[in-house]
Amino acid sequence: MSRFELPKGMVRAPQAVGANEGYMPGFANDFETEALPDALPQGMNSPQRCNYGLYGEQLSGTAFTANPPERTWTYRIRPSVKHSARYTKIDLPLWKSAPCVDPDVISLGQYRWDPVEATGETTWLTGMRTMTTAGDVNTQVGMASHIYLITQSMVDSYFFSADSELLVVPQEGRLRFCTELGIIDLEPQEIAIIPRGLVYRVEVLEGPCRGFVCENYGQKFELPGRGPIGANCMANPRDFKAPVAAFEDREVPSTLTIKWCGQFHETEIAQSPLDVVAWHGNYAPYKYDLKTYCPVGAILFDHPDPSIFTVLTAPSGVPGTANIDFVLFRERWMVAEDTFRPPWYHKNIMSELMGNIYGQYDAKPQGFVPGGMSLHNMMIPHGPDRNAFEGASYSELKAEKLDNTMSFMFETRFPQHLTEFAAKDAPLQDDYIDCWESLEKKFDGTPGKK
Ligand SMILES: [Fe+2]
Repeated sequence: MSRFELPKGMVRAPQAVGANEGYMPGFANDFETEALPDALPQGMNSPQRCNYGLYGEQLSGTAFTANPPERTWTYRIRPSVKHSARYTKIDLPLWKSAPCVDPDVISLGQYRWDPVEATGETTWLTGMRTMTTAGDVNTQVGMASHIYLITQSMVDSYFFSADSELLVVPQEGRLRFCTELGIIDLEPQEIAIIPRGLVYRVEVLEGPCRGFVCENYGQKFELPGRGPIGANCMANPRDFKAPVAAFEDREVPSTLTIKWCGQFHETEIAQSPLDVVAWHGNYAPYKYDLKTYCPVGAILFDHPDPSIFTVLTAPSGVPGTANIDFVLFRERWMVAEDTFRPPWYHKNIMSELMGNIYGQYDAKPQGFVPGGMSLHNMMIPHGPDRNAFEGASYSELKAEKLDNTMSFMFETRFPQHLTEFAAKDAPLQDDYIDCWESLEKKFDGTPGKK
């Protein structure tokens, strides 16, 4: 009996079914998957000869000695050295890396942008527009925020970033990420994480496509500590999905572009590099449906810190102080009694970049529109505009569903610097700061006045 034959009468589930078709559920699991039977060695990583004449190769996303190490063993048609020749430097002038401090740009302030619109034909590479950068790509700290505008699929063209892990937040259109480790289809209200060093091409399934990217130079995103919340709610591990193995055996002249220390280089190769037939390991791309995020909040009074809505966090080395938090503001019930329910006024050592995926955000009923972004930088005051303040201060406090809303925040411990594109070319709302102008002084010394 071969190991694929089951005992009579026993039925085994296929590798992926239903909502998981094409994916394997779990966060940072040690997955294993093969696109051809017996392609994956069992019980060892590096046999003398791999089945099908495949080459064994390890992709390490952490130092070998990290705890836990994150790595994946691939079994591929050619080793990656065959998908890499001599490099030629190229220019992608709108994709910037930190440090990128333009002396003619002021980053100190409150900023908000209307949606950036597509102009001309663009791909994942040519359609990336950097809005802010923070930290330093060369020392692997900080991040960049981008908006992408894509109308065209990459054809015989591949990419990887040695600099960063990319968190992709689509806002319009549907994309397909064909990666070395499998295929991820992505649409608005989902996110994808593409790990550092993984080769892929991006295809347009339904365009034009617009969305946001957080480029994480530092440690990988992980699930936040749950503390007293316990084992359930927020983002549950089973809702993260890594793709099953998929490969192509295509001999066509192709271009591989590499982002390395903030610069871009091309290399010409003779075949598709997406030739991994089988893999196992815990270093993989994945996607997550934001609609499965289970928010936890105040159920009697007051308003918790927004960290209660953290989906993923990328540590900085200082405990509790993230290089990046990815925070989600989605539909939820508001029930707190005698409470100012929207986000309160505040200043924050962390800098907060927000994007609107759809609907209306409760602290800014106007002006922060789907596809739009805002930045409240390190220690810059912000909070509800006058309409939001007056409405929340005098409305009847019954249980209320905050509906038709999905926004997010990339929050980092580092100040964010605007790019020249963000300050001069993107549709910056020059009058944003005026949203607080009509807030009036109510204090006149009268005790008991509210
Ligand atoms: Fe804030």
